[in-house]
Amino acid sequence: MKNIVAIYPGSFDPVTNGHLDLIHRGSKLFDKLIVAIAQNMDKAEALFSMPERKEMLMAMTGDLDNVVIDTFEGLLVSYCIQQGANAVLRGIRAISDYEFELQMALMNRKMEPRVETVFMMPAEQYSYLSSRIVREIAKLGGPLQGLVPAMVEERVRERIAQRQISAPRKHLL
Ligand code: PNS
Repeated sequence: MKNIVAIYPGSFDPVTNGHLDLIHRGSKLFDKLIVAIAQNMDKAEALFSMPERKEMLMAMTGDLDNVVIDTFEGLLVSYCIQQGANAVLRGIRAISDYEFELQMALMNRKMEPRVETVFMMPAEQYSYLSSRIVREIAKLGGPLQGLVPAMVEERVRERIAQRQISAPRKHLL
């Protein structure tokens, strides 16, 4: 049997129930799953720092023995080789994800043919869910129940309240 180490990369700002659904599915399929938080996100839009995102992911996946949470900078394929990973796991929610995911998978394969991209579908109830939409709903005071774990919801609400106190006029941006 092959030892398949997969990297599940993303921004995870914050981790959603859709991400967690995919992590659970991936942990059953692969020998080891490294959830890798990418450093390359537009900082102005970020809600949480990298250590904060890592802490939330660790708290939510502590029960999964073969799942590790890490951060990375630079090219994903270089990080894969550095970690001895042979697969990248990505979630496809709807057909609208496909074009971007295809481009990324093919470009990654061109740069590093030793790494295969594997796509998995999260449960249907998460097919409309993204971190961006969670941030937006939270900023506008909408409900987050069922979209993120309760602990993450609490952290999101705290962070948005802090931002609204420090920059009251920018709170809807
Ligand atoms: O959760 P996201 O924001 O959809 O994740 C995108 C991510 C982090 C997987 C992608 O931007 C990425 O792989 N970044 C690392 C830099 C890189 O390798 N870029 C070339 C991709 S072809």
